[in-house]
Amino acid sequence: MIKVITYGTFDLFHIGHWNLLNRAKNEGNYLIVAISSDEFNLRKGKKSQMEFQERCKVVKSLSFVDKVIVENSWKQKESDIKKYGVNVFVMGDDWQGRFDDLKKYCQVKYLPRTSNISSSILKKLFNHEK
Ligand code: CTP
Repeated sequence: MIKVITYGTFDLFHIGHWNLLNRAKNEGNYLIVAISSDEFNLRKGKKSQMEFQERCKVVKSLSFVDKVIVENSWKQKESDIKKYGVNVFVMGDDWQGRFDDLKKYCQVKYLPRTSNISSSILKKLFNHEK
């Protein structure tokens, strides 16, 4: 079994998220998705449109996602990799190089981002419409 892990907020779930998660699953055969809690997002200065439980519901419903866990801090990545026996750590290439220190524990891969879509773009449109 090749276990893959990835992290994100996945607010206003969009095709960029779907593509990233689908590509991540193709790096192995068991996909764990760590979703940032609302509290962790606030500490990062981010406020999502959807609450944590709603963001989890959407990601859990994807057939190629095997497990969803909560992300509460920057430093939990190392312990998650050890705890779940992760083989491949995946992030979109907007994070290129940022997690290279995790190469001590597993493979680290940055996958291409989908262009012209992001939660920030959708949030702006959403708030504009209101
Ligand atoms: N992602 C992607 N393509 C996009 C948007 C996101 O591949 N167009 C990837 C990110 O690189 C990350 C994962 O999806 O690995 C979760 O990203 P997240 O930050 O939750 O989504 P964004 O849409 O980038 O949100 P924001 O605009 O708030 O940064």
